[in-house]
Amino acid sequence: MTFSMGKARGTYPIVLQTNMVHNFDKIADEAEAKEFLMEYNSTAETVWNAYTEASWAYNVNITDHNRQIMLEKNLEMSNHTLQNGLKARQFDPTDFQDPSIKRILKKLSDIERAALSEAELKELTASSQDMETTYSVAKVCKEVSCKALILN
Ligand SMILES: *[C@@H]1O[C@H](CO)[C@@H](O)[C@H](O)[C@H]1NC(C)=O
Ligand SMILES: *[C@@H]1O[C@H](CO)[C@@H](O)[C@H](O)[C@H]1NC(C)=O
Repeated sequence: MTFSMGKARGTYPIVLQTNMVHNFDKIADEAEAKEFLMEYNSTAETVWNAYTEASWAYNVNITDHNRQIMLEKNLEMSNHTLQNGLKARQFDPTDFQDPSIKRILKKLSDIERAALSEAELKELTASSQDMETTYSVAKVCKEVSCKALILN
């Protein structure tokens, strides 16, 4: 791990032990961040698809039961966004090389606006065949509230 004094921000301890990175308890391992984002992407797709299905089911068959399921799935989606936002905040991307990893982490960390833009999802799933699905589901997530939990 390389360490650059020049990049240190804010106050800094005088004594630097081995393994210390920019922030004491933050993860500065880019590979780990990438793994987290890939995991996030696959779980997000599952959660968003579940919500989309529930939403369609309600729209074609408006019952209290179907509405309840839709709301539950919406909550799960919000929770997923929230949990992953908190996790994203555990990383210190200062020295990361890949600008898209930096940008997506930053975006996820901003929990109130954590729903990724279509362009970012596209970027994250560029090599995935499921891109189109994720892309359209992301749209749903943007149009419907993905923040129900946070705003409570
Ligand atoms: C509508 O949803 C209810 C459950 O809330 C279900 O029992 C019913 O079979 C559904 N109707 C149709 C036409 O799918
Ligand atoms: C949110 O997600 C976390 C972790 O997956 C889980 O432990 C928690 O029960 C969830 N909360 C809600 C309200 O779904």
